[in-house]
Amino acid sequence: MSRLLVLVIGATGSVGRLVVDEALRAGHRVRALVRPSGRTAWADGVEELRGDLTRPETLECAVDGVDAIVFTHGTYGSVEAARRVDYSGVRDTLLALKGRRVRMALMTAIGVTDRKGAHDWKRRAERLVRASGSPYTIVRPGWFDYNEPQQQRPVLLQGDRRQTGTPRDGVVSRRLIARVLVAGLVSKTAELRTFELVAETGPDPEDLDELFAATDNDAAGALDAFHDLRNMPLNDEPASVVSDLSRAKVQTALGGL
Ligand SMILES: NC(=O)c1ccc[n+]([C@@H]2O[C@H](COP(=O)([O-])OP(=O)(O)OC[C@H]3O[C@@H](n4cnc5c(N)ncnc54)[C@H](OP(=O)(O)O)[C@@H]3O)[C@@H](O)[C@H]2O)c1
Repeated sequence: MSRLLVLVIGATGSVGRLVVDEALRAGHRVRALVRPSGRTAWADGVEELRGDLTRPETLECAVDGVDAIVFTHGTYGSVEAARRVDYSGVRDTLLALKGRRVRMALMTAIGVTDRKGAHDWKRRAERLVRASGSPYTIVRPGWFDYNEPQQQRPVLLQGDRRQTGTPRDGVVSRRLIARVLVAGLVSKTAELRTFELVAETGPDPEDLDELFAATDNDAAGALDAFHDLRNMPLNDEPASVVSDLSRAKVQTALGGL
């Protein structure tokens, strides 16, 4: 298996910390993006890089030389914070790559297509990643750590039809989310996949490739995941978002030359 330099964005967060551990366990090197005010003691093998997703000038150093990026950052509640951090953080990280293709894993949320508040900005971040031209896996987890201890079996859903906005939509441990995000980085069968991740009763299988392979990949050039409702037409999107998408596509075309 190849040893990657993995940039973890949101590395100090509840899932990001576990992604750091999981990536080290998988034999990768880790670069952790930490805000200037953040304080964390890291294990050997972790390079800490100070940066802030709302300060694009700090992101060029962060992406320099990386093979893969795992996005686990996020905010709760405020639509404006979701725009400034959840969305713009992804946009500016992609711009910092200047068209260079790296393996990506993006964590968003189950119910992200429900057209409610902050979710639209997470979904727009998904769209930018699809437009980036990089091989990616987008993971939409259910409710963190609402699972019973025996619920360790990952179940990958598509179409995002569970939208009550409660744990009834599905539950999953943070540890399992981290495992899926990291395993996807080196799995051919996880490429260009978007799925919801929940856990059911049963053990965590050793190999996730078969589970990834059983999902449908996103169509080439599509904005949304294969089975998503087409309920966010580009024509109704803010002009700035349309422009960000065009920029991502131009960068992709140039990066492919
Ligand atoms: N809770 C659930 O059941 C659930 C389910 C599905 C999806 N989600 C989504 O998952 C996301 C992450 O949740 P979490 O509980 O892991 O959150 P968390 O523990 O607060 O972690 C968020 C991470 O993002 C980082 N971050 C925030 N603003 C940043 C900025 N301007 N620049 C750089 N890094 C920044 C934080 O850094 P600091 O440590 O410096 O603040 C932290 O590392 C949320 O957006 C949530 O909507 C949650």
